[in-house]
Amino acid sequence: MNNNKKLLEFIQKTAEVCRPDDIYWCNGSEEEYQLMVRLMIHSGTAIPMDPAKRPNSIYVRSSPADVARVEDRTFICSKLEENAGPTNNWSDPDEMKAKLIKLFAGSMRGRTMYVIPYSMGPTGSPIAKIGVELTDSPYVVANMHIMTRVGKEVLDVLGDTGDFVHGLHSVGAPLLDATDPDSPWPCNADHKYICHFPETREIWSFGSGYGGNALLGKKCHALRIASVQARDEGWMAEHMLILKLTNPEGQSKYITGAFPSACGKTNLAMLIPTIPGWKVETIGDDIAWMKFGPDGRLYAINPEAGFFGVAPGTSMKSNANALLAAERNSIFTNCAITPDGDVWWEGMSDEDPPRLTDWLRRPWMPNSGRPAAHPNARFTTPARQCPVVAPEWEDPKGVPIDAMLFGGRRGTVIPLVTEAYNWTHGTFLGSIVSSETTFAAAGKVGQLRRDPMAMLPFCGYHMGDYFTHWLKIGAATDPAKLPRIYYVNWFRRDAKGNFLWPGYGENSRVLKWVFERANGIAEAVDTPIGRLPAPGSLDVSGLELAPGALEVLLEMDAEGWINEVPLIKRHFETFGDRLPKGLHDEVKRLEEGLLKLKCSTL
Ligand code: OXD
Ligand code: MN
Repeated sequence: MNNNKKLLEFIQKTAEVCRPDDIYWCNGSEEEYQLMVRLMIHSGTAIPMDPAKRPNSIYVRSSPADVARVEDRTFICSKLEENAGPTNNWSDPDEMKAKLIKLFAGSMRGRTMYVIPYSMGPTGSPIAKIGVELTDSPYVVANMHIMTRVGKEVLDVLGDTGDFVHGLHSVGAPLLDATDPDSPWPCNADHKYICHFPETREIWSFGSGYGGNALLGKKCHALRIASVQARDEGWMAEHMLILKLTNPEGQSKYITGAFPSACGKTNLAMLIPTIPGWKVETIGDDIAWMKFGPDGRLYAINPEAGFFGVAPGTSMKSNANALLAAERNSIFTNCAITPDGDVWWEGMSDEDPPRLTDWLRRPWMPNSGRPAAHPNARFTTPARQCPVVAPEWEDPKGVPIDAMLFGGRRGTVIPLVTEAYNWTHGTFLGSIVSSETTFAAAGKVGQLRRDPMAMLPFCGYHMGDYFTHWLKIGAATDPAKLPRIYYVNWFRRDAKGNFLWPGYGENSRVLKWVFERANGIAEAVDTPIGRLPAPGSLDVSGLELAPGALEVLLEMDAEGWINEVPLIKRHFETFGDRLPKGLHDEVKRLEEGLLKLKCSTL
């Protein structure tokens, strides 16, 4: 318990509306976690895994109607529609609340309401922020234990008067009748709403129990609400991994990276370099909060405490560290289960197991003609279990950032790596990131979508104003103290559709180039799109690439970029007069540079 008036009022008002049978204050303890696990086992939500195989781990299958973030049901309810901008769904906050109150009314009947006080970031860090999630889902409580810091220390930091993000979550499946059996995955498929009220720092989420829809600390708080707080307070809340890269001489640099969902961000954050003597350690795999330190540099913390990683495709080859991290104390959602009580997913092993039970609870064989694990199946694992977690990953003051990467999944045009000329140019490169869509969000797969800074589904305000905020951050310090910015693309393909770059551990070669650029060692050539590695400056020793592949990977595809310019302009038109002049100027500069190049080669 706690005497914070705002908190007590929040709980009381919510209880009056949602009418839970009981209210439980979470303390973040191991006993509490075990209690949640038992509740989930008893209600059929979870199956304990064989402790000899995966100690203290559970296996969960959601409803097929609740398997991913629902962007079309996600709303930014700012007072003015123009402040949500063209890339967000908007609804008037009063109207949305009036509609939602009707759904929340009695929605927790027959259930317990859990009060989860959590800290995003090391508790008490000057960069961390507090939230409180009220939820009727033990699955959410267990996941929040892993993904955030939960418990009494948080309430101590909050004190009697501290402020916090108000998060309200209900699966929207009240147990009305004394004889109603609970469902293994209660949700309300017909009425899902993931709503953000940025001015009042509130989140109301109804109907879904899955991932980013329900673990409100993650996308809802740490990105959508935090991006607004960051704009108001002069810092950055970004969809970025944070890694520490150490060279053979023992010098380290910290690099962040923004990639759209399911582009291998978790893999990059835990990468095992193939180049001898280089080391990558993990600070975070999904979100970075960055503030200026007293020295004028940007310092980043990982606001999360765990990984909510996409399971399919994770293997000893693609990400051994994630697999090793998930060997114990983990939650597996929508994976397949082996007859001897372990989990499996597509890509985990070279050969498919002969028999499984799939995520739909059905018997599965390799010839079943459908995936055994849902493509957005997930593991929830404590970050501290990652074999390469950096010792300073919880440093409350954060780590100073030397470089930022932007990347997307593009088969053509975008080179393996491009260095921005300066912060404004880097902001431009980030603003035009595009990617072929994947399964992390419900919707069509394989289409190209512009995803500026990989924040399209996560920016809590007008994207044009977000670009302006980026430019302001760049103007707030000595340019020499800003991280350098890079645009990378691991996904370039040849005419037959084969990947030209092997990716995974070999991406360390690009990281090395980035590192050595900062040290003034690696050479680059200037082109209209930015600086590309000079011939011989990217370390490809020992790497067998297809003949001509390196040239394509590092080429300035003038024709491709000339075709890209109208697409960029159309993309920018979306933001109307809120697009900052700095970005208009960049697209003009790019176009002029391309034309000059074309004329000079005619
Ligand atoms: C995620 C996402 O779950 O970006 O991290 O979708
Ligand atoms: Mn993400």
